[in-house]
Amino acid sequence: MQLTPEQQARFEDEGYLFFPGLFTADETRTLAQAVPELYARREAYNVREKGRDAVRTNFAAHLYSEPFAKLARHPRMIEPVQSLLGEQLYMHQFKINGKMAFEGDVWQWHQDYGTWLNDDMMPTERAMNIAIFLDDVTEYNGPLMFIPGSHKKGVVAASHDLSTTSYPLWTVDNELIRQLVARAGGAHGGIASPKGPAGSMILFHSCLVHASGSNLSPFNRVAVYLSLCAVSNHIRRHKRPEYIAHRDFTPITCLPDDCLLKHYAVDLPWKNGLPASALQTSLEEMA
Ligand code: SIN
Ligand code: MN
Repeated sequence: MQLTPEQQARFEDEGYLFFPGLFTADETRTLAQAVPELYARREAYNVREKGRDAVRTNFAAHLYSEPFAKLARHPRMIEPVQSLLGEQLYMHQFKINGKMAFEGDVWQWHQDYGTWLNDDMMPTERAMNIAIFLDDVTEYNGPLMFIPGSHKKGVVAASHDLSTTSYPLWTVDNELIRQLVARAGGAHGGIASPKGPAGSMILFHSCLVHASGSNLSPFNRVAVYLSLCAVSNHIRRHKRPEYIAHRDFTPITCLPDDCLLKHYAVDLPWKNGLPASALQTSLEEMA
């Protein structure tokens, strides 16, 4: 899937693109059906909400679940990012965020590249997020919020929040958020919140400042995030375990566009459980 010049210009300007209903209901169902069994597993790769059983984030399903292994090679997800970055990509992180009904907690204001730089020593911002909704996303179930154009600021000041939620994040303080939102248009366009049916896709810049509120509605808001990095920009430090920040920098090769609905052989290296190496960490800088 190629981006039009208008889409490329909008991405440069706003830092994200929204594709409502890009995947069909049949395609989305093959993914959504696999989630409850993955979330039920008692494995390190399921991070639960603070003090609760609900899964906040499942990591690395593309290495042990067939439908997600196919999604990780889907041309509608990989090709637009590849053309924007002008280089082959590897999977830096793969997550299925729950934001479950009544229990899904906030994601504080942050830039993803802030975490990838500070924790993983990713050299530059040449990486991108691309997300697909597995549930309808509405104003009620904790939609993502973006500050349009905030990616143009590069890396902004952040502090390491280890206490607000169950998942550590480099977060941006309220005063800076106030300024960024004011500069982006304040109450008139300073925050954008793409909402749409299951199967919608969002592509966003690794420096785009974003957040989401808690989900007090009775509707789940499951979404899959692929964090794709230009191969030459691979991480240089393995402070976080491999199931969170991957160490295999092999370029992704796409499957055909119908891959979610047909059988294609995919490699599932972690299908029999996490290897011990996936839990190891190191503060050493890699050569
Ligand atoms: C994220 O920022 O990584 C996740 C935000 C969300 O799922 O709402
Ligand atoms: Mn994020």
